[in-house]
Amino acid sequence: MKGAGFKVSGAAEVLMGSSGPEVEVRGWVARKHAVGGLVFAVIRDGSGYVQVSAKKGVAEESAFEAIRKATRESAVVVRGTVKEDRRAPGGKEISAAEFEIVSLAESWPITKTAVKSASYLFDKRHLSIRGPKAIASMRIRAEVIGAAFDYFRENGFHLISAPTFVQAAVEGGSTLFSVDYFGKKVNLSQSAQFYEEAALPALQKVWIFQPAFRAEKSKTSKHLTEFWMIEAEQAFAEQTDNLKVQEGLVTMMVERVLERRKAELEVLGRTLRQPALPFPRMSYDEARDFADKKGLGFEWGDDIPTEAERAISKSQESPFFVTDYPLAARSFYHMTYADRPKVTKSADLIAPEGFGELATGGQRIHDHRQLIDRISKQDLPAESFEWYLELRKFGMPPHSGFGIGVERSTRWIAGLKHIRSASLFPRTVSRISP
Ligand code: 4AD
Ligand code: MG
Repeated sequence: MKGAGFKVSGAAEVLMGSSGPEVEVRGWVARKHAVGGLVFAVIRDGSGYVQVSAKKGVAEESAFEAIRKATRESAVVVRGTVKEDRRAPGGKEISAAEFEIVSLAESWPITKTAVKSASYLFDKRHLSIRGPKAIASMRIRAEVIGAAFDYFRENGFHLISAPTFVQAAVEGGSTLFSVDYFGKKVNLSQSAQFYEEAALPALQKVWIFQPAFRAEKSKTSKHLTEFWMIEAEQAFAEQTDNLKVQEGLVTMMVERVLERRKAELEVLGRTLRQPALPFPRMSYDEARDFADKKGLGFEWGDDIPTEAERAISKSQESPFFVTDYPLAARSFYHMTYADRPKVTKSADLIAPEGFGELATGGQRIHDHRQLIDRISKQDLPAESFEWYLELRKFGMPPHSGFGIGVERSTRWIAGLKHIRSASLFPRTVSRISP
């Protein structure tokens, strides 16, 4: 019987020596070369890569013919004997007894001559994601997300979900996507923060992991129009408590990637260091002075411009917080200091080496009267915030939280030039396909 006696194994298991001597590997042909009567194919599967060889006159005739015929990216099943071989990548190879082509691939379009621009690679993203760098980036991304699940579970945060069709603009009207909802205009969620706040009296500490949408018209290396956000919110928590959660989460993300994704960091040529705790803190005013000295000054009250943020980020070796943003640069719900009514209890977490903003967070206004005043001072439509306001009538304690971008975090941790590489199928101002 075909396949009898062969243990179905992953490429990684074969290389680690935990598979047994007779294996079956199912995967795709990543590369191939022939030397005289010897054909080598490197097979990729979900766990890694392993080399297979077949020698004319030694392997069965049908197996030799199949490996010879198999094209790059064909789906194949290989059965054979694991052999030590110092010349093989990973020090082991499978000497093929049987080689089946399950789905023969046409001529692979992503060749050195065909790839004239990064844009071509993203036009062919449905295929180019099979490349080693894309694979490494996705594995690191999954590790970053996994770390968040573990961090929040270990720290008593409940995972919640929230709708994507919403009415309120959490982060301002200028980046809202609206869609037709049975003849009515509704928005795609920019942030689940308001729903998290609503969940606090029920669950006290919550977090959420879901897509956010921003009609960001700027073409930059850190903006997507659809991205995944991790947000957390806690009741009876000041802004100082909020910063500790961010430090804990980011520390765990880096720790996990260093522990479990060393090979992937190597593929990407990334040197990642574990940041020390606590992360450095600088105030908005200090950040502004720094920018000023670099000739990148900006008005007090403005958001920190991209160039200035990059310069500050480049001056640091660890993620750091910029605290105490002016109210003018923040959303309406931010709490201000009692003695400094124009300064918010808020912070951005910024990645070093020029990568820039990872997270934004702050303490929210929990008092009903104060929030009504703020909404009217800023000329916002109070009716869109009706239920958000009503929460303040029924037991809202001081609370704070933050949102951290999954692709921004992955980009920094994996050291990717552009945020689109941190997404399997990125959505940007100029890309909505594949
Ligand atoms: O800074 P933002 O806009 O903050 C909020 O949405 C808050 N309501 C979050 C909260 O307090 N619960 O977005 C949070 C994070 C940013 O720091 C960034 O990492 C990411 O989301 N982000 C984007 N990532 C990719 N592309 C974009 N266009 C992004 N906009 C924000
Ligand atoms: Mg922000």
